[in-house]
Amino acid sequence: MNWNKWIRQFHRWVAIVFTLTVIANFVALAQSGGAMPPPWVTYSPLLPLALLILTGLYMFVLPYAAKWRGTSQAS
Ligand code: HEM
Repeated sequence: MNWNKWIRQFHRWVAIVFTLTVIANFVALAQSGGAMPPPWVTYSPLLPLALLILTGLYMFVLPYAAKWRGTSQAS
């Protein structure tokens, strides 16, 4: 229960980090006059995206897992 709340909070904050890395990509692209930004900028959204997918799928499955187990409410 508390664990699920922690995962949701984590997903929320990583979503913000992910958004910032995407914005940084556009800024870097604009500032370089259209040339490729350094690879570490280009790839920086990938780690937060991976964490979002994992925690997101976990949250997606929660209500169904609660049903399978016959327990009420996953929140
Ligand atoms: C990539 C795969 C992703 C999956 C599978 C996923 C899945 C989910 C799920 C299942 C929820 C809970 C919805 C609910 O029942 O209330 C959720 C919440 C949320 N997701 Fe994602 N998500 C993903 C990516 C993202 C991304 C890219 C962003 C934003 C940059 C994002 C931002 C959020 C936010 C802000 C919430 C609400 C969390 C809260 O404050 O309670 N997610 N997501």
